[in-house]
Amino acid sequence: MMSDRLDGKVALITGAASGLGRAVAERFVAEGARVVIADIDEAGGNWLASALGPNAAFVHCDHTESAACDAAVAFAVAEFGKLDILHSNAGAPFTGPFREIEDETLERVININLFGALKMTRAALPALERQAAATPAGASLIYTSSLQGLKAKPNFSLYTVCKHALVGLVRSLSLELAPKNIRVNAVCPTITETPMLAHFLPGMADDPAEAMKRLRATVPLGRLPEPSDTASAVLYLASDEARMMTGVSLPVDGGQMAM
Ligand SMILES: NC(=O)c1ccc[n+]([C@@H]2O[C@H](COP(=O)([O-])OP(=O)(O)OC[C@H]3O[C@@H](n4cnc5c(N)ncnc54)[C@H](O)[C@@H]3O)[C@@H](O)[C@H]2O)c1
Repeated sequence: MMSDRLDGKVALITGAASGLGRAVAERFVAEGARVVIADIDEAGGNWLASALGPNAAFVHCDHTESAACDAAVAFAVAEFGKLDILHSNAGAPFTGPFREIEDETLERVININLFGALKMTRAALPALERQAAATPAGASLIYTSSLQGLKAKPNFSLYTVCKHALVGLVRSLSLELAPKNIRVNAVCPTITETPMLAHFLPGMADDPAEAMKRLRATVPLGRLPEPSDTASAVLYLASDEARMMTGVSLPVDGGQMAM
C-alpha cells in the first residue's frame, strides 16, 4: 500500500538489512521517504536497496565506529540532499547468567546496543539540526529500545542495561533538543519474530515450540507482534502526525506493560 505520510523526507536507518529495521525501511519507502540502509550486512543491505529501488541506498556502516557513522551521514546527505530522520535501530541479542559474562562479551554487547546508538546520534545531529532549522516540521530521532527498556526479566541483565539506557537517553535528549525542534522518541517492542528471536528462545525453554507458547501466553492480546507492527509505530513517530510527541518510549507489546 503506497501513501505519503513521509513524503519528501530522508531517513537513515541502522540495522536496516534485516528484521525490524528492514520492515521500517520498506514502510518508509512506501510512505514516500528516501532511505539510507546502514548496516554491516553488505549482501542483505545491497539486496534490500535494490529491491526498494531508487528511493533507497545502502551504505556499509558499523555504528560502533565513529568514523563509519560520520561517513554514513555524509553519504545520506550526498545521496539524498539532507537528513530528516535517524532511526537508530541496530542491536544484538544477549542472554545468560550475569556472573558468567566475560569482559569481551560485556564490551561487545554494550558497544553494539548502546555506544553504537550514541555514536550515530552524535554523527547525525549536525545534519538533523540543519534540517530542523530549515523546516517547521523539524527533525526526528527514533531509537529501537525494547520492552526490556521498560521492564526486566532474569538472565537479560546486560541487554536490559543497554535498552534502559536508550530510554534514559530519549528523556534527556528530548529536552535538550526540543528548542531546536528535533523530536526524540523510542519504540519498545516485545519479542518479535525476526532472526534475533532464535537467540532469545533458549533463555526461556529448552524446546523452541514450548518457548513460543510461553511467550504468547505472556501477551494479553495473545499474539506476538510482527515486524510490521513496530514499523507502524516508528512510522507514526517519524511522521508529522506525531509533531507533539517527544520524550516518549512507546511499547509495542500487546498489553504487557499494562500488567
Ligand atoms: N526481535 C526482537 O524480539 C526484538 C525485540 C525488541 C527489540 N529488538 C531490537 O530491535 C533491533 C533490531 O533487531 P532485529 O530483531 O531486527 O534483529 P536482526 O538480527 O534481524 O537485525 C539486526 C540488524 O542489525 C545489524 N547490525 C548488527 N550489528 C551492527 C553494527 N555494529 N552496525 C550496524 N548494523 C549492525 C545486523 O547486521 C542486522 O541487519 C535491535 O536493536 C534489537 O535489540 C528486537
